Amino acid sequence: MPGLALVLLDSLIKVAGGVAIGWWLKDAAGKGKSGGGGGGSSKKSKQSAARRAGAAAAAGGIGSSAPVPRPQEELKMVLCVNMSLKMGTGKVGAQCAHAAVGVLWSHYNSHNVAIRQWEMYGQPKIALKVSDESEMAALEAKAAAGGIPTYIVHDAGRTQIAAGSQTVLAIGPAPKSQLDTVTGHLKLL
Ligand SMILES: *[C@@H]1O[C@H](CO)[C@@H](O)[C@H](O)[C@H]1NC(C)=O
Repeated sequence: MPGLALVLLDSLIKVAGGVAIGWWLKDAAGKGKSGGGGGGSSKKSKQSAARRAGAAAAAGGIGSSAPVPRPQEELKMVLCVNMSLKMGTGKVGAQCAHAAVGVLWSHYNSHNVAIRQWEMYGQPKIALKVSDESEMAALEAKAAAGGIPTYIVHDAGRTQIAAGSQTVLAIGPAPKSQLDTVTGHLKLL
């Protein structure tokens, strides 16, 4: 039994030591940060950061501290890729990234709670194929009519394809069942 007590004591000391080092590191990091601003600018930048956070919170935007309720239903974003353009893999990837960033930024301050929820709970994205010539515009119209965020990427045409081509349509984030009424018939890419 004394052996066990010693082992316990030993691990207790190790844990306590770890916690103490953790505190010390946190403190040192905090000091480093406020000291790094140089000549009074740290106070200013703290104030403007606070102002930005306040404005964002008021708008429900970036850095908002308002609690985000867990979504009732699975949320997702779909990225509909224009297959008739025959883009290379890297190009498709880049265009999908444009679309996801574009739809998020263009609707970020819209008080759309689905955006905050999607952001907090995994940000699921699905890539789908669109090939019919007129389909992208029709999909966008249908989604927008249902109040779902949309964004179409128009390529600058520096590589591979003609300038102004509609490469990817992003729809969402929105509840899965709502998105399925718009894009449920499209095949996975
Ligand atoms: C694909 O892009 C071309 C060029 O912009 C466009 O004419 C066509 O309608 C697009 N396809 C779809 C499915 O939107």
